[in-house]
Amino acid sequence: MKVVSTIKELEKQTRKINPSVIGFVPTMGALHLGHLALVKRAVEESNLTIVSIYVNPTQFNDKDDLRNYPRTLDEDIKMLGTELRADDMVFTPDDSEIYPVEDKRVFHFGNLENVMEALHRPGHFNGVAQVVSRLFEIVKPDFAVFGLKDFQQVAVIKDLIRQQQYKIKIVENPIIREPDGLAMSSRNRLLTPDFRKRAPMIYSSIKKVAEIISHSDIESAKEYVRISLSENGLQTEYFEIVDNKELVPINLKAEMKKGKRYFGCIAVKAGKIRLIDNIEIKVE
Ligand code: PAJ
Repeated sequence: MKVVSTIKELEKQTRKINPSVIGFVPTMGALHLGHLALVKRAVEESNLTIVSIYVNPTQFNDKDDLRNYPRTLDEDIKMLGTELRADDMVFTPDDSEIYPVEDKRVFHFGNLENVMEALHRPGHFNGVAQVVSRLFEIVKPDFAVFGLKDFQQVAVIKDLIRQQQYKIKIVENPIIREPDGLAMSSRNRLLTPDFRKRAPMIYSSIKKVAEIISHSDIESAKEYVRISLSENGLQTEYFEIVDNKELVPINLKAEMKKGKRYFGCIAVKAGKIRLIDNIEIKVE
């Protein structure tokens, strides 16, 4: 495994290897087993894997969140050493490498801009699109692996690829959880011990949604999630049930169509820390 921080070096090493399939895993570091699962997947399906570690300032709509975002580069590199092969690369650019001039591009994603994360984190997906398009153009991968933990992000990236006509396949990886059910996240390490104990309630509450809908309605399921979390000191920012294509929120069971897939997506404040999670809702 090589660690490179400039585009010039990345390109030089890639040329040397002359790979037929480049797999790419973009990350912001503070790596955990959720990230490593994506890396494993990329290694299996490529002959050169590139993992980027870059905390992208343009996707943070909250300055404190950017400042507090965990940065653990030495540990990250150690972890990646267990998965990556001799020729694989970790790309750790600095801001001037990614944004030599200010990125003023504005992207549009239709309905994806009007729901959930987009409403609660204005400008977030524009920043994600800026950095991911820039990284795609630098790395030139054949495929890139993304986690379904960031459900809306996957939809946005697919739309970005369609709009920009990139020839890059998106590989989606399932959510990796802690043994107590909490979805792994770089932000989990920022939770106070008390909120860390409460946080698994997020997954246990959304796990009950499909069953509640099967004998009652969507409104009752949503209310159950909000109330059971607030009783545990967790504040729900949103909980929506959406289809996996357009991500249109549905409010009535009758709107759920056979053959379509639906996901319950949630954002929660655990003290000062914001956590997201989701689950597929299968209703008979
Ligand atoms: P980051 O939050 O570091 O996540 C990097 C990738 O790991 C994303 O595709 C995310 O969905 C995936 N991931 C994180 N936790 C996961 C889990 N518990 N299970 C499965 N996959 C998980 O997402 C970003 O960074 C950034 O927005 C980025 C795409 C790198 C652009 O800056």
